[in-house]
Amino acid sequence: MILVTGATGNVGGQAVAQAHWAGLPVRALVRDPARADLPAGVEAVRGDLADPATLGAAFAGVSEVFLVWPLPTADTAPAVLDAAIAAGVRRIAYVSAWGAADDPDEEPEGILGFHTAIERLLRASPLEWTLLRAGGFAANTLHWADQIRAGDVVHAPYAQAGRSLIHEADVAAVGLRALTHEGHAGETYHLTGPETLTQAEQVRTIGAALGRDIRFEESPPSVAREAYVPAGGAAADGDVGEVRADDTGQGAHRREDELRHAHPSRLAIVCRCRTAPFRLAGSCRAGGGAVGVG
Ligand SMILES: NC(=O)c1ccc[n+]([C@@H]2O[C@H](COP(=O)([O-])OP(=O)(O)OC[C@H]3O[C@@H](n4cnc5c(N)ncnc54)[C@H](OP(=O)(O)O)[C@@H]3O)[C@@H](O)[C@H]2O)c1
Repeated sequence: MILVTGATGNVGGQAVAQAHWAGLPVRALVRDPARADLPAGVEAVRGDLADPATLGAAFAGVSEVFLVWPLPTADTAPAVLDAAIAAGVRRIAYVSAWGAADDPDEEPEGILGFHTAIERLLRASPLEWTLLRAGGFAANTLHWADQIRAGDVVHAPYAQAGRSLIHEADVAAVGLRALTHEGHAGETYHLTGPETLTQAEQVRTIGAALGRDIRFEESPPSVAREAYVPAGGAAADGDVGEVRADDTGQGAHRREDELRHAHPSRLAIVCRCRTAPFRLAGSCRAGGGAVGVG
């Protein structure tokens, strides 16, 4: 039995759907089963990663965990991993982030801080772990959805900042493969999409998929920072949201051996039923990954 955490989110939702479609036994950890929109037939078990005492039923009978960590710190991670080990979990595929520290003396802050801390806990554990250091998710472009539904211009800073966004379906597929096949324990995989696109190119690509001419107009970082920081984001100088002025992407690095069934596309989001959020009306079910888990 595979337990997926963050099961209603971008990457966990993909892991649940792909495991279910592949016929793998899968259970979703959710905080509110009544609200959870999961594929029919998927078992949902209530639990809260911030309160490890609530996780007993979720871990019962589980041998693999697709671990998404949605909390801003790793404070409860030791107790969560202890509960998993005590319940008999053997393997964990952990959705980490590009840039997590390898140097044991390095103590990054923020997002990379908690990912680094959880990676270290896993490395020190008896578990068979696989680390998925993902670059930016394609879902990050949904930040522009309101502007794209409202008009033909996206106002944001750093038109020329490049990212090699990866579709969350591909991160999920690599994680499921690591959980269900031998040879991935102790591996750290750096995952990105197939190519680097500037933000201006990303917006043009979304426009092309919608059959519209959408352009990126650069706005000053100070304006965007004002809009972003009160919403909970952390912005340092030269930084707005997850994008830096000097971003050049991560070199579109993919694990070809893992993404063996991938179909490179200009921007994966536009290929897999991802245009609905950018339209005024439309519906969209979670798209299937382009990467086989078998
Ligand atoms: N975005 C990127 O570019 C990127 C890149 C690399 C790595 N990552 C990492 O990916 C992770 C986020 O993944 P995502 O985008 O799929 O997340 P997401 O869409 O924001 O979903 C978060 C999920 O976590 C669940 N959740 C929230 N609090 C919880 C709690 N206390 N206990 C149990 N479940 C809880 C939510 O469920 P409910 O609200 O339904 O309970 C939801 O399913 C983070 O660790 C992030 O650092 C992101």
